[in-house]
Amino acid sequence: MSILVTGADGYIGWPTALRIASRTDQRVVLVDNFARRNWVEEVGATSATPVAHIETRLEAAKETLGLSNLSFVEGDLTEKAFVEELLQVHEPSAIVHAAAQPSAPYSQINGERANYTQHNNMQATRNLVWGLHENGLEETHFIETTTTGVYGAPEFPIPEGGATMENQGARDEVPFPAMAGSWYHLTKAHDAANLRLAHKQFGIPISDVRTAITYGTETEETRDDDRLKTRFDFDYYFGVVAHRFAAQAVAGYPLTVYGKGEQRKPFISLEDAVEGLARLALEDPDDRPDGLTVYNQVTAPISIVGMAETMQSVASEFDLDVDIEHFENPRDEDETHQMEIENSRYMELIGESRQDFEAGMRDVMETLVRYQDTIEAYEDRFLPGVLEE
Ligand SMILES: NC(=O)c1ccc[n+]([C@@H]2O[C@H](COP(=O)([O-])OP(=O)(O)OC[C@H]3O[C@@H](n4cnc5c(N)ncnc54)[C@H](O)[C@@H]3O)[C@@H](O)[C@H]2O)c1
Repeated sequence: MSILVTGADGYIGWPTALRIASRTDQRVVLVDNFARRNWVEEVGATSATPVAHIETRLEAAKETLGLSNLSFVEGDLTEKAFVEELLQVHEPSAIVHAAAQPSAPYSQINGERANYTQHNNMQATRNLVWGLHENGLEETHFIETTTTGVYGAPEFPIPEGGATMENQGARDEVPFPAMAGSWYHLTKAHDAANLRLAHKQFGIPISDVRTAITYGTETEETRDDDRLKTRFDFDYYFGVVAHRFAAQAVAGYPLTVYGKGEQRKPFISLEDAVEGLARLALEDPDDRPDGLTVYNQVTAPISIVGMAETMQSVASEFDLDVDIEHFENPRDEDETHQMEIENSRYMELIGESRQDFEAGMRDVMETLVRYQDTIEAYEDRFLPGVLEE
């Protein structure tokens, strides 16, 4: 028996694999093709925290955390033959599928990258669910980090999953419509629909985990050894807004808010995200729901400008004097949208939130001040640049 973590060299996948491995004796098989390292290089950026080679990471996990149940397989999940072999050899009881091209701005650079993103993300997911079906592994719990971005920005509180549709006096529960606003986010809306079909046709138990914007540099397992750090990107393409703000604060750069910035976005700390994924991966098959369950993996919606203000105040604790500047919004979005989102199923899964936004930003600052030189060397990457083809 084993547990598979795809995208395990990535920001969320790596600490998730560590958490799972530290709670089970089962083998935890990490899969990645190192594409993320290449994309970030391609846009001329870098992770603020040095990202150790995977072999070094595994050695450190053994030495510092005593984990000898981790192994790594390099491969591209869009290749069906690779996925087939992976599943046949390891016969996983659960798969945490965190492999994807996760950047909306990257997916929108041009048609080639939109095409790449949609092919990469959807083909990988299809290969995995079909691979489970065709290899008699339909009882494997398939857990995917989709995204809260599949919901778009509706004018009503976002449910944890489906929606109610009313037409000509009749009502029914339907899957939430694909209202995603980027070519990347739409890959996850399409994945969600494909997962529904995979559950309906093959009976695979599925957890569709709609991950919010994730912030943080550390989890319990990554703190004590630099070789165990997860990546931390801060450029326009790969840095989520909270991370870009933190890096801007460290570089003494003003915080760039696009437009009014009053719109609320859903957030979760890395610690709270990893905890939920680990709990799902380790669920006892007799106790877990055998259907398709949607979790809104979010702990709090926060406005962009509110986030910048929190960042400014946390930065002052580190003697950093930070300004907030408003820029014309390059994105097509409602700058005042007050998102409300249900998350009771996810909160029940993790019990309680372990790190709120302010504490998360304090943690981030503590890490980032050590890498001030790296951030300053790449500070021109905070804003969109023209990419060389
Ligand atoms: N970080 C966030 O704020 C956030 C928010 C919502 C959803 N998500 C989702 O969570 C998951 C993890 O995101 P992340 O921030 O850790 O991104 P990441 O890019 O750091 O990690 C994804 C990993 O998947 C690998 N990968 C991509 N395509 C692959 C393929 N075809 N074969 C093998 N490996 C492949 C990459 O090399 C990378 O290491 C993604 O599915 C993403 O869409 C993340």
